[in-house]
Amino acid sequence: MEDKKIIFSGVQASGFLTLGNYIGALRNWAKLQDDYNCLFCVVDQHSITVRQKPADLRKNAMDILKLYIASGIDPHKNILFFQSHVPQHVELAWVLNCNTYMGELQRMTQFKDKASRHSDNINAGLFTYPVLMAADILLYQTDVVPVGNDQKQHLELTRDIAQRFNNIYGDVFKVPEPYIGSVGARVMSLQDPTKKMSKSDSNPNGYIAMLDDPDTIVRKIKRAVTDSESEVAYREGKDGINNLLNIYSAVADKTIDEAVAEFSGKGYGDFKVAVAEAVVECLRPVQQKFNELSKDKGYIESIYKEGAARAERMAARTLRKVYKKIGFIER
Ligand code: TRP
Repeated sequence: MEDKKIIFSGVQASGFLTLGNYIGALRNWAKLQDDYNCLFCVVDQHSITVRQKPADLRKNAMDILKLYIASGIDPHKNILFFQSHVPQHVELAWVLNCNTYMGELQRMTQFKDKASRHSDNINAGLFTYPVLMAADILLYQTDVVPVGNDQKQHLELTRDIAQRFNNIYGDVFKVPEPYIGSVGARVMSLQDPTKKMSKSDSNPNGYIAMLDDPDTIVRKIKRAVTDSESEVAYREGKDGINNLLNIYSAVADKTIDEAVAEFSGKGYGDFKVAVAEAVVECLRPVQQKFNELSKDKGYIESIYKEGAARAERMAARTLRKVYKKIGFIER
């Protein structure tokens, strides 16, 4: 690999990817591929911290890999792979588990949140989830991690673990930084615009899946929650309209001011139709590419096998160093 900084990021395979994932992550990742050496992982092992139906997990994981490529992430410029195909992730996670404190994990807000939502299945994996994430990142001597706000705390913990390990055993890990750059607008739920648009929303009207067909997209946007006024304007108290304006500005590549000007004097109905059309047009080429990829299983298989092999070579180097430092006998 060329001498560029390393980026690692991943998406869980626990549901559909949404318009939020596309605007906030995938589309931006595609812009990083020339300036960094990027690894984009489908973190299927993280997914099973919440119970998954095996057939769904298999399908979701494969769809995400295809959506990476369909979003413009070039599988030859970047390393695309499934986390479960590179055994070093869990091997390093074990070592890091022994270097992470219970207290640190107890403070993680995502754990507290998920534990309350899945109170029937508060498993040990859910608790140590951030340690596996730290392993994902540290295995590749990652420089930069593009993550959303909800993952900042996990990245902070990753840095703490890396620094602690380095202090004890000597420099082993690169201490990663969060990616600071133009971040796409935060896309909120269409049904509750105070919450992030989420693939795990129990109400499918709250999100637009990247693979929703045009009719579904139009229907969901028409049903989006707005307010009792009638002016398309961007201001406090208009969460629903603000969200639709953010979406429109992102998919139509216009500023908020341009968008507001475009709809001045128009009603919410017309506005929603325009937003829906813009979303449909934005996702159309991605969906087309996805459908083409779906016809070629052999090609996809060659991508993820090659990706895992390249990832494993990098990961093995770090893990070997770690094992040696902590005193395991060389095999
Ligand atoms: N926890 C991340 C999320 O839910 C997914 C993830 C796992 C990840 N390992 C990672 C993201 C490593 C960035 C880097 O969004």
